[in-house]
Amino acid sequence: MFRIPDYVVSQRTRRAVLSRIARWMAGLGFAMLGLVAGLWSAASARFMVPNVATEPTRRFKAGTPGRYPPGHVEQRYKEEHGVWIVHEKYRGRWQLFALSTACTHLGCITLWQESDRRFKCPCHGSGFYPNGVNFEGPAPRPLPRYAIRLADDGHIEVDRSRTFHQERGQWDDPASYIPG
Ligand code: FES
Repeated sequence: MFRIPDYVVSQRTRRAVLSRIARWMAGLGFAMLGLVAGLWSAASARFMVPNVATEPTRRFKAGTPGRYPPGHVEQRYKEEHGVWIVHEKYRGRWQLFALSTACTHLGCITLWQESDRRFKCPCHGSGFYPNGVNFEGPAPRPLPRYAIRLADDGHIEVDRSRTFHQERGQWDDPASYIPG
């Protein structure tokens, strides 16, 4: 009977093994390509979705009005909410209102200076009266107010999704203050 020589068998075996390795490598390549494409798509999708889930809540409670005697500037909501709660006179009337801490020049965070009774911007020196009106430096307008109201439970509620601008006459809106 005819017998295939050993050297032919070993050549065929080698070819078969090499062919398998090549197929395996190609498969691995496609799998890696798929993985990279999947990760890229996931990363792209992350940028397309608004970042609402991680944003801090825009409404918060700030205790009862009794916590804020006339002339008081509350600093405890500065870090977490970017808000000064102030009990101050505006146009001769006492009001409780919530001011943004961001300077109206370029947005630096203002500091409260109790000894001088003013908000001072550390970036370019703008100054604001306790009622939020600008009086020195390059800031072009007063600090905006946020919506504020007395909730049914008697606590102050600040809503940062609504702003009120003095230069647009919006500080007359009753939603921008609690009568003091
Ligand atoms: Fe406040 Fe420039 S950012 S003075």
